[in-house]
Amino acid sequence: MGSRILAHRGASAYAPENTMPAFQLALEQEADGVELDVHLSKDGELIVMHDERVDRTTNATGFIKDYTLQELKAFDASCGKEGYAGASIPTLAEVYSLFRGTEKIINVEIKTDIIVYPDICGKLLALEDAMGMNGRIIYSSFNHYTVCEMLRARPSAKVGLLYMSMIVSPWDYARSLKAACLHPHFITLANTPNMAAECGKLGIETNVWTVDDAEKIDQLSKMGVTSIITNKPDLARTVVFGK
Ligand code: G3P
Ligand code: CA
Repeated sequence: MGSRILAHRGASAYAPENTMPAFQLALEQEADGVELDVHLSKDGELIVMHDERVDRTTNATGFIKDYTLQELKAFDASCGKEGYAGASIPTLAEVYSLFRGTEKIINVEIKTDIIVYPDICGKLLALEDAMGMNGRIIYSSFNHYTVCEMLRARPSAKVGLLYMSMIVSPWDYARSLKAACLHPHFITLANTPNMAAECGKLGIETNVWTVDDAEKIDQLSKMGVTSIITNKPDLARTVVFGK
């Protein structure tokens, strides 16, 4: 079995990142799932966007946390990509609605590394339950305290530790926190001795980001990583499966 292909912020090489067109395109390009980023709005809604601020990807300025959902919905999130004028910022519920009838995996990155949003884990679990997404979600974060909070709230949650430093024996660290997945930057993974073998022995998933180069995708796939997180799911599919 080849590595899983997860479309990073949707098929974001082609459509505006973290928008419904990018997630729809990931489906059309037959990705095995998507990676996305979540924050909370002023009124506590789960908002899909990468940055804490709206400046880079919309026509507005300021922090997501200072806007209500209704205000955020008025912004243009086409990110300068031609043909996508009017694309809006999605809620996580909207993205789940798109994938609900499929078997695709959603890697939800909880963006609490700068702003620690109150009870974001509780809100995520409530939405997962309400929309019947159980068993389909991998929760990851660079804030490993958030990962621990998620596991305290639901010990069966599938969680991933995001990192890009050279941790010694990261599989032991994952095991100590009871995390099912490691999410290293691809260079970090490539430079960690015995990574695939040690994680394989312990049943720890290796979900590596963000790889858009065909040669590197091929190397990582042959190393046996569990998932390749890429902005170009079509390219990754061609490299990993030859179609
Ligand atoms: O989840 C993998 C990757 O998305 C982490 O980095 O900055 O693209 O969210 P970033
Ligand atoms: Ca991310």
